[in-house]
Amino acid sequence: MIKKTDKLYSILGLNRSNNSYNMYDPSKKALFHKENFSSFLKGNYFDVQPVCVEIVPSLDCNFNCPKCTYVQNKSKEKDKGKKRLMSQEVFDSIIGGLKGSYIKSLIFTGGGEPLKNPLYLEFMKQAKESGFEIGLYTNGALFKEGDFEKLLEIKPVFIRVSLNAGTSITHGLIYGYNGKNPIIFNNIKRNIVDLGRTKTKLNVPTNIGIGYIINEKNYEELDEISDVLLQLYEDSEGGIDYVAFRPEVYYFDDDLNVVTEQPNSEIFAEIPDLLEDKIANKVESSGMRVLINKEGFNNLSLPYQNIPNISHPWSASFDYDGRMYITSEHNGMEGFCIGDIKNTSLKDVWYGNKRKELMMKMDSGEIKTPPYFKLKSLNNLLLNIRDLGIFSEKEANEFYKSIDIDNKPPHVNFI
Ligand SMILES: C[S@@+](CC[C@H](N)C(=O)[O-])C[C@H]1O[C@@H](n2cnc3c(N)ncnc32)[C@H](O)[C@@H]1O
Ligand code: SF4
Repeated sequence: MIKKTDKLYSILGLNRSNNSYNMYDPSKKALFHKENFSSFLKGNYFDVQPVCVEIVPSLDCNFNCPKCTYVQNKSKEKDKGKKRLMSQEVFDSIIGGLKGSYIKSLIFTGGGEPLKNPLYLEFMKQAKESGFEIGLYTNGALFKEGDFEKLLEIKPVFIRVSLNAGTSITHGLIYGYNGKNPIIFNNIKRNIVDLGRTKTKLNVPTNIGIGYIINEKNYEELDEISDVLLQLYEDSEGGIDYVAFRPEVYYFDDDLNVVTEQPNSEIFAEIPDLLEDKIANKVESSGMRVLINKEGFNNLSLPYQNIPNISHPWSASFDYDGRMYITSEHNGMEGFCIGDIKNTSLKDVWYGNKRKELMMKMDSGEIKTPPYFKLKSLNNLLLNIRDLGIFSEKEANEFYKSIDIDNKPPHVNFI
């Protein structure tokens, strides 16, 4: 009979003799978090803790993307008319709560646009000085003179600017404004160039990236997108490290039901090959890495399946008001808050009844799983492993004996 540990090796794609693995498969990062992964193997699912959390410094945004995740989950309808910016007090509660926890990294993102909050640089600095690794997702429009130096001096692990378009007209369509006047699009491109140049000037290890979500509005302009990328790379004197392509996801309909038919599924079936051909083949020789989330495109081109989500404990999310949510896709969404860090300790929030209840409903399929989500590839991996049955302490230890735990993949704490 094949031993359980050997089956685990095979699921993980590991080779027992040389411990080789695909460093860039994000789902494999999980096994380098030994305490968590061992809890999972031993069936102690409630004990798994987040490695990475998303922080929403602002629910307000300078744009109005019709398909923004947080428009779809209606979190943007919360507290309308108020200034929806994270206060220093709330951020202090979050950092205070996270210190000494299992959490190792923070991604500053939205909700809305992080740079809408005048304190965003202070928050990032404070998080870094408190010992966390940090990253930033931004739409890139609101950088001010001097921000590039200040931001890069904090040495985030990455800064990814969401560009999402090859022309100003399409940028306007995706971001919900009239893009006939190219000022906004050109300004964002200039900011990306300045970020890249400043990174080189300061000689910091921060990875500068450009993000693209692909949808029906931009998939026909891949030639324009590759021209834009080559130009940005040249103008930044090689200061841009990567471009990442992912599908735009239709998560929830107007009644907050999970969308079971993706309007772009036919486009997505073709996209990975088109991106290889029209982008990777042209851009990679310049030196910029092209990352294509093939699994995401493939997944969304296939019929929807309500596969249980058991990966969510590995990551979580804080809204601007200090409330903690079970996944990033559910951030700010009614019914998915697991507690408030302003008046409850992280431990009490994490081990509280609300998370237990949501966890059970997500595992049983009572809460439908979104068609695609950030931890989908990790989820697939964990489901396959769970099918092997529960590991004993001895089996879990035996597995770890032949893992070179110090040979970690890059960005292992960004799950
Ligand atoms: C919600 S935004 C927040 C940060 C910032 N405002 C921005 O746009 O980068 C984070 C990322 O989610 C992406 N995004 C927004 N709506 C999406 C959707 N429906 N499917 C997939 N990604 C989406 C954005 O393009 C961006 O890269
Ligand atoms: S810029 Fe970002 S946060 Fe703002 S609406 Fe668009 S995707 Fe959402």
